[in-house]
Amino acid sequence: MGKVLSIPDFMRMKQEKEPIVMVTAYNHWQARLAEKAGADMILVGDSVGMVEHGLKDTLGVTMEMMLMHCKAVMRARQRAFVVGDLPFLSYEVDEREAIRNAGLLVKEAGVDAVKLEGGKNRVSTIRAIVDAGIAVVGHIGLTPQTATLLGGYRVQGKDEQSARRVLEDAIAVQEAGACAVVLECVPASLAEFITQKLSIPTIGIGAGSSCDGQVLVFHDILGLFETFKPKFVKSYANGAEYLGSGLEGYVREVKNKAFPTQEHSFAMDEKVMEALKKESI
Ligand code: KIV
Repeated sequence: MGKVLSIPDFMRMKQEKEPIVMVTAYNHWQARLAEKAGADMILVGDSVGMVEHGLKDTLGVTMEMMLMHCKAVMRARQRAFVVGDLPFLSYEVDEREAIRNAGLLVKEAGVDAVKLEGGKNRVSTIRAIVDAGIAVVGHIGLTPQTATLLGGYRVQGKDEQSARRVLEDAIAVQEAGACAVVLECVPASLAEFITQKLSIPTIGIGAGSSCDGQVLVFHDILGLFETFKPKFVKSYANGAEYLGSGLEGYVREVKNKAFPTQEHSFAMDEKVMEALKKESI
């Protein structure tokens, strides 16, 4: 196993303008593929609720679910920096609970950092978790856990007031001690301005090409999530069709008795079988 990437590597990548590639993964085989593809960061996102558990949004995701998925991903980790999402209401109630839950993801699952949503309103929480010795990745702009308060899943920072809010959130998250920040669904020029202003890396999703890194959901990259496809998603494979045709082939061959053949069966000494048949007459 090579060296696992760490926060100084990402600071250097920002300075040298080497794009940071983050991809979500939720289980062992997905993390193995992400590692093999060369991802720098793996995010065990709470998007797991939608893409793996069939939930309609991320609100129903629990600490138990996150722990299980983070552990599965960590068993495949080789080089990528792994970030575990803190689910809705695992960090908002009070700082002690936030530290305890962040600590569970780090101590039990072994992730390198936790991610939580919010800007100025989460400064004391981020500071408390960082003070406890745990690296935090911020997440601002469109924050899916509080999308209802934002009027739904919509681009943030289009008008002056809201652009100023996103910018202030970015600065607040950095000052609170976050090691990186995800910018979700913000106009490209605002994301570029924030990226220049911050000393920590920005990881964009629907935030244009000037962020220090990019993140996309595993299922979106591979065309595995067919429920909906946001504008910012680019799919690099038609996974649902490819995997689906594999499964259809299996169903077809079992139905028409083309599988299994001798190639997939085990043989035994004929004499043993004959003796058995005689005995049972
Ligand atoms: O949960 C997730 O997958 C995320 C990314 C979309 C950034 O938070």
